[in-house]
Amino acid sequence: MTTLDSYDQIPYESFAIPETHPDYLATLGRLLGLTTADPERCRVLELGAASGGNLIPMAFHLPWSEFVGVELSAEQARRGQAMIAELGLTNLRLLHQDILDVDETQAPFDFVLVHGVYSWVPEAVKEHILHLCGRLLSERGIAYVSYNVLPGWRQRGMLRDMLLFRCRGATSPGERLSRARDLLDRLARGVSAKHPDGQPRPEAETLRREVEYLRTARPSYLYHEYLEETNSPELFSDVMARGRRHGLAFLAESKLHTMFASTLGPAAEAALDGLGDQLVQEQYMDFLRLRAFRQTLFVRADARPCLEIDLERLYDFSIHADLTPLQRVHLNRVKRQEYATADGGRLQVEHPLTKAVLEGLALVYPNAMPLGPLMDAAAKEVAGAGGRRYADDRDACLSELFNLYISQGIGLTRRAGRWPHQVGAWPRATPLARAQAASGEGHVASVRHRSLGLDALSARLLMLLDGTRDLNALLTDLASEIRTDPELAAALGSPGEVKGRSEQIAPASLERLLGIFARAGLLVADAQPRESEAGVPGGNGTTNG
Ligand SMILES: C[S@@+](CC[C@H](N)C(=O)[O-])C[C@H]1O[C@@H](n2cnc3c(N)ncnc32)[C@H](O)[C@@H]1O
Repeated sequence: MTTLDSYDQIPYESFAIPETHPDYLATLGRLLGLTTADPERCRVLELGAASGGNLIPMAFHLPWSEFVGVELSAEQARRGQAMIAELGLTNLRLLHQDILDVDETQAPFDFVLVHGVYSWVPEAVKEHILHLCGRLLSERGIAYVSYNVLPGWRQRGMLRDMLLFRCRGATSPGERLSRARDLLDRLARGVSAKHPDGQPRPEAETLRREVEYLRTARPSYLYHEYLEETNSPELFSDVMARGRRHGLAFLAESKLHTMFASTLGPAAEAALDGLGDQLVQEQYMDFLRLRAFRQTLFVRADARPCLEIDLERLYDFSIHADLTPLQRVHLNRVKRQEYATADGGRLQVEHPLTKAVLEGLALVYPNAMPLGPLMDAAAKEVAGAGGRRYADDRDACLSELFNLYISQGIGLTRRAGRWPHQVGAWPRATPLARAQAASGEGHVASVRHRSLGLDALSARLLMLLDGTRDLNALLTDLASEIRTDPELAAALGSPGEVKGRSEQIAPASLERLLGIFARAGLLVADAQPRESEAGVPGGNGTTNG
């Protein structure tokens, strides 16, 4: 089975990858002192673009930028091309082409994206990927390349070895998957956390966790990560050396917080002391983190980034954040406050000014606000809440905001956006959201380029949001779909019981889901506003469950 066959037969669900978005990359580059391209008017190339799940939302939301995707699997390219045609996107070409055949005629590109490809292709393709990054990047360009790294990936490699052994002699993807699942079930039962005498077996813990994860993972992930012929992780230093041969230099990791040894804790930071320059430190940090995966940003070797980030540069941007406080927020004292991120993570801040900034941002998400005016408003808020002595302490706030930024708790952008964050009386979803819902892939891209999982009900509702229904009509149609569509009813619980409760399920779900769609920027301004009908305020969370 070749790579080509396997991706034709088990297509990879391609998602929006936030760290590859031109806005994210341009901002990061600017913070590091580069004059990056304007994301609203840039040229982007993605190698191994699958069915365009990453590029299509970018092209939809950045109509003045130009996108090219290259994909070897005819089936995936065809699917992507069909959606591009359906959406009428003239700024995106998804080419059915081998990376090896890409030449320099289309250069230059401001951003070259290679996600989930480098470690999974033969040596010649790897080499050509970095060659293309070196040759196709514009002077101000940034290349994003993700890959599995050693030695951390060896922990997963152990399970891959076991699964590949179980698949020996099996050639069809279906049979390989079913054999792999069989072994995963056996491992789940057979690899014990304890020895027969009751003593713990900590050495089995990682394997047990990985087995559990894979038993519920998407088949395409299981297949392409664990059962694919090629998966060759490398040391970070070796990837860097290869990059240098192609005229590339390390800019940063797109998960910026991993570049700070302090995030490993004081003992680890001390252990790294004196080991060498930044690249050497990065390598040793991989050892301490047991890191298995990287999303590295490269620039041309002649670019001159400045890794000392001046926090005042944050004032050049607008900020967006979707953080929900987990306790009552006090604006009159410095007190640790925990926030939940939209994807279930936890983050902390303590300064009243930062808390007020986050409060202001939560009200307008997915829109962003310029930091200067935002800080002014937050200072007033804090002073009014009895925290006058903290209201002018902007440096402390800036430093907390920077920490949130490197942990991806807040986003910095030049795209402030003016998306409706309230639900109007005639809700209408973007053509992109409706097309993605109708495709049955089970996810949509938010306007901030995050992937939002869709269950059957939320997908159905998105498809109904074509602007021809007011809230009452939506309720009626949603309830009717729940009553009459056995598949939908089955997805919601036991069909008989769900059918009888459709009148209760529909209103509760409608309000909750519309709120989530609004926060994800999936709605457009009302087509037929009716002032007499009240809107539903934006909510929070994921659509699943
Ligand atoms: C794991 S998928 C990642 C897809 C996408 N970048 C994403 O992250 O969702 C790898 C993709 O690279 C494509 N690919 C592999 N070898 C290729 C080659 N030589 N030329 C073009 N595409 C290739 C595969 O067909 C597949 O769609």
